[in-house]
Amino acid sequence: MRVLVTGGAGYIGSHTLIELMAQGHEVCVLDNYTNATPAVLTRVRALSNGKIADFKGDVRDPAMLDRVMQDFAPDAVVHFAGLKAVGESQQKPLTYYDVNVGGTLALLHAMDRADCRKIIFSSSATVYGEPDYLPYDEAHPTRPASVYGRTKLMAEQVLTDWATAAPDRSAVILRYFNPVGAHASARIGEDPKDIPNNLMPYIAQVAIGLRQALTIYGDDYDTPDGTGQRDYIHVVDLARAHVAALDYTCKTCGARPFNIGTGQSYSVIDMVRAFERACGQTIPTQQAPRRAGDIAAMQANPARARAELGWQATHDLDAMTASTWAWQSANPKGYDAC
Ligand code: NAD
Ligand code: UD1
Repeated sequence: MRVLVTGGAGYIGSHTLIELMAQGHEVCVLDNYTNATPAVLTRVRALSNGKIADFKGDVRDPAMLDRVMQDFAPDAVVHFAGLKAVGESQQKPLTYYDVNVGGTLALLHAMDRADCRKIIFSSSATVYGEPDYLPYDEAHPTRPASVYGRTKLMAEQVLTDWATAAPDRSAVILRYFNPVGAHASARIGEDPKDIPNNLMPYIAQVAIGLRQALTIYGDDYDTPDGTGQRDYIHVVDLARAHVAALDYTCKTCGARPFNIGTGQSYSVIDMVRAFERACGQTIPTQQAPRRAGDIAAMQANPARARAELGWQATHDLDAMTASTWAWQSANPKGYDAC
């Protein structure tokens, strides 16, 4: 299929390009590079020997979208482009609604104009909010606690209404749990522009000597060791979920959400210990109070993805930490050195 990948130069998008091309799909990227560099695509091209059409532009720009639709004529769109920093979303709510909801609307309008009827959307487990029960299944109530989470839920609703308004449209909503890790080549990986908000890139920067110590937020949660538990998923498994979702759009109509996680959860301490095994060093840590907005534990029930998409995660925790360390140690300054 011909697949337009918005935000394809980003962390998850770049890994997904490789998996899509490996399955014979033709890809085209639309990215405005607010959180990426064109060097990513150079590396993806070298890894895949594949052709990647690319456009520099904003997913909210109708003229740019029409140009991409005309030049590339996609059969389907994978929509990663968006903003994802929870703290920033609280400070700049309108920017987040504009990019994450407005961007999705503009894209669907352009797809309608071009008669493109299949879309896969990057949503987040953050749409569930404080759990009534764990693991979350897709029927769990949604009550996101941040602006970011609400933009994702609104975009889900827009996509659902769009997909159900005509009989031949298909929208697959992937609710990612915590993506970590890097491609086996160590040529592409996660490259946060500022101080990392997320656990894994922070630990990696401590291990490489860019930061002194990991601050552990909270040791008094109702979890076995008192630290927060999450369902971490290897980015290559996550990328493959998009390939499975694309196949699914060819057989189905309407909108459907899927949890994309492993079904296992690990604590902050578990992650530190696993990273120490991968890098052969001790990771210095310091204790701090709970981070505002955090919940004790999150875990996916991925049964629906397994049954309906035929997808399941295959990488374990050691594969996640080993690939993160391989990427970080081979690229201590991320893509900056390119
Ligand atoms: P990322 O920032 O690495 O990738 C997003 C890409 O979109 C970047 O290349 C950025 O330059 C581009 N972009 C941003 N705004 C754009 C715009 N207006 N027009 C065109 N391009 C634009 O993030 P990621 O981690 O790869 O996440 C991809 C998607 O998955 C996002 O929608 C994010 O909200 C969602 N998601 C991410 C996580 C995570 O932990 N990484 C978890 C759940 C959901
Ligand atoms: C965070 C976002 C979530 C988003 C996800 C993307 C918040 C409140 N939630 O999720 O909306 O979808 O990122 O991946 O920001 N931790 C530390 N020290 C650190 C960093 C994290 O102890 O320096 C702990 C956290 O308290 C948490 C765990 O590590 O228990 C995972 O944190 P993180 O990687 O930020 O992911 P989430 O909080 O799950």
